[in-house]
Amino acid sequence: MFYKASIVAGFIAAAHAAPAVSQISDGQVQAPTATAAVSQISDGQVQAPTATAVSQISDGQIQAPAVTTAASPSSPPFGYYSYNQQPSVDTAAALSAASYAGIPVSDIPGALNPVAPVISSQVTGVTSHGPYSGTPTTTGAVTTTALASEVPVLPPNPKELGYNPDGLLHEPEPVPYQPAGGLGTNGTEPVYMVQSDFDYESILLGLYQEWIELDLFHNILATFSEEEFTAAGLTASDRFLIEFMADQESGHATLLSNLLGGPGGATPQCTYNYPFTTVHEAFDFTQKLTRFGESGVWGFQAHLDSREVAQLLDQSIATEARQQMIFRQFAGLFPMPVWFETGIPQSWAWTLLAPYISSCPSNSKRLAWQNFPGLNVLNQPNSARWNATQTGFNETTGFGGAAPSTDPPAGESCVGNNVTGFDCSAAIAQNRSIPLSYPGRTVYLEWENPGKAVGPNNSYVTSTSAKAAEFVIWVSQLNVTYSPLTNITSKDGMNYGMTIQPDVSTYEGDPAINGTMFIALTDANITYTAFNLSSVNPHVAAGPFLYQAG
Ligand SMILES: *[C@@H]1O[C@H](CO)[C@@H](O)[C@H](O)[C@H]1NC(C)=O
Ligand SMILES: *[C@@H]1O[C@H](CO)[C@@H](O)[C@H](O)[C@H]1NC(C)=O
Ligand SMILES: *[C@@H]1O[C@H](CO)[C@@H](O)[C@H](O)[C@H]1NC(C)=O
Ligand SMILES: *[C@@H]1O[C@H](CO)[C@@H](O)[C@H](O)[C@H]1NC(C)=O
Ligand SMILES: *[C@@H]1O[C@H](CO)[C@@H](O)[C@H](O)[C@H]1NC(C)=O
Ligand SMILES: *[C@@H]1O[C@H](CO)[C@@H](O)[C@H](O)[C@H]1NC(C)=O
Ligand SMILES: *[C@@H]1O[C@H](CO)[C@@H](O)[C@H](O)[C@H]1NC(C)=O
Ligand SMILES: *[C@@H]1O[C@H](CO)[C@@H](O)[C@H](O)[C@H]1NC(C)=O
Ligand SMILES: *[C@@H]1O[C@H](CO)[C@@H](O)[C@H](O)[C@H]1NC(C)=O
Ligand SMILES: *[C@@H]1O[C@H](CO)[C@@H](O)[C@H](O)[C@H]1NC(C)=O
Ligand SMILES: *[C@@H]1O[C@H](CO)[C@@H](O)[C@H](O)[C@H]1NC(C)=O
Repeated sequence: MFYKASIVAGFIAAAHAAPAVSQISDGQVQAPTATAAVSQISDGQVQAPTATAVSQISDGQIQAPAVTTAASPSSPPFGYYSYNQQPSVDTAAALSAASYAGIPVSDIPGALNPVAPVISSQVTGVTSHGPYSGTPTTTGAVTTTALASEVPVLPPNPKELGYNPDGLLHEPEPVPYQPAGGLGTNGTEPVYMVQSDFDYESILLGLYQEWIELDLFHNILATFSEEEFTAAGLTASDRFLIEFMADQESGHATLLSNLLGGPGGATPQCTYNYPFTTVHEAFDFTQKLTRFGESGVWGFQAHLDSREVAQLLDQSIATEARQQMIFRQFAGLFPMPVWFETGIPQSWAWTLLAPYISSCPSNSKRLAWQNFPGLNVLNQPNSARWNATQTGFNETTGFGGAAPSTDPPAGESCVGNNVTGFDCSAAIAQNRSIPLSYPGRTVYLEWENPGKAVGPNNSYVTSTSAKAAEFVIWVSQLNVTYSPLTNITSKDGMNYGMTIQPDVSTYEGDPAINGTMFIALTDANITYTAFNLSSVNPHVAAGPFLYQAG
């Protein structure tokens, strides 16, 4: 048997290596093919195959003649994760296109070009769902020496204060019509691969998110009947949209796997545990899960070392953002009640995601991010009520920071309630006459102590370095704001408190706290803005939680 050497480490050397022997996921070894080095540049043109060039498809997939090493005939190296990367020609699709167009297939540019496959979630054979009840073989986040306990607060970089925005050009243009400046604009060949631990761990977190979305969208379709979807206001075309969004996720998982360096750097799909029982709960959960998926990326993409990775990541997250809005529409929520979408730190996204991953295969890559103690809003506004002001305590189903609102009794539900302003059937927009939340609302909270086993195989442990919680931080749109945490009590290992929903705006006419947004508990009320919010982590005592403000 042959195993492809790590492409991350080997791709430069591979340029001069022996002819390619590549492996597909069933373990069979294929003969070298002439098409292995076909490369595509980002304008869509396909270049001629070259025998030896190391080339990259613009999605980050590194196409190199593989270095092959004779491995032990018995079993693959421990932790090895392999997936098919071999481009192939879909002859049936090409012939079908030709037949539709009524011209020979050879006359259709690109029709016979090999295309890279999407990464298969079947590699791990995951089909089951539910909680994990085993003992982990390892625990805790990936870690190494830490140089300090907090990032210092420093003055601005003087270079960033020096530009004169007077409308004139201050430097010679490198070429006509191209103003001086920008990153990655000088003709250097793009390298579509993570460039630092920060990049790697951020994109790895993103891949964990793409994998759960792929499974979740399929699971929603498999769980409910056509009648149940119809009752929630969905047509057959709407259901196909969910299927299409699942297909998008397999593309995103492939892209992120490639940005991580291919099989050596990627991680396989896991087994998941979902908290919903009805269609409306499923969509409420999904609009929350995609919210932290999207916001998790907005929190780090501008900080990535690799601008090339940031470029492609943006192109997938733009799609993810549309998915989040569509799931709000399917849940009968107003599609976008904010002017700006917020970003959150990676450890916030990981804290929110981890409870829904029950176990991962032994060859999974582990994450370096923190899991904070769980936070829960006891009176989370119930988006399935036509009068959310009547939301009582504990009107959520299941567990975790994205637990969906429980469907209320028929007469109190807005699902299928055909009255304008009081309907939350799936729709392009549902105007709510009674808002889900309002400034001045009393919000009741409960939160856990640190030290709980969470996430895949219960193999991560919640922690905090904060002192006692004193504030609720509200993270929405461009702003963070704080409200005092009051009436703090503890009972049976759980902590309780309350706060008042603040009233802040980004700009006149845009109340900041609306939509599916984030709260957490902190020990201080330090100022953060969009680009330095991750400095809050040492001060987070519990959370985040997805507050359904609107
Ligand atoms: C082009 O820019 C990169 C940084 O973006 C820099 O490392 C490299 O030296 C530059 N190349 C030239 C030829 O100026
Ligand atoms: C997690 O559980 C799965 C299924 O039991 C097992 O294959 C895997 O090795 C476990 N991983 C860890 C890190 O314990
Ligand atoms: C909504 O519920 C609140 C709280 O029970 C109540 O005061 C209000 O009158 C209700 N609104 C309508 C339109 O029924
Ligand atoms: C809500 O749940 C909490 C525990 O999570 C419990 O302490 C509380 O009594 C419940 N409240 C009601 C009204 O059921
Ligand atoms: C909703 O009510 C309107 C007006 O009463 C009616 O025309 C429409 O058919 C109803 N829609 C549904 C889905 O029942
Ligand atoms: C939409 O809802 C708002 C309250 O959120 C209300 O002021 C407005 O009149 C409603 N418009 C329509 C067309 O129902
Ligand atoms: C959120 O936005 C919607 C739509 O504009 C509005 O009806 C609602 O009152 C807002 N909610 C809050 C809490 O500001
Ligand atoms: C934040 O802390 C400062 C100083 O302790 C205090 O003056 C201010 O009112 C606090 N802000 C909030 C929202 O609690
Ligand atoms: C919260 O604490 C304040 C002052 O200690 C007290 O007046 C108030 O009744 C408490 N509220 C609740 C809901 O317990
Ligand atoms: C919210 O953010 C905007 C844009 O950064 C800023 O202009 C505004 O002052 C902030 N508002 C608050 C209440 O922090
Ligand atoms: C974050 O940035 C803002 C300016 O945008 C600054 O006022 C604040 O002090 C910074 N916070 C920290 C903890 O560095």
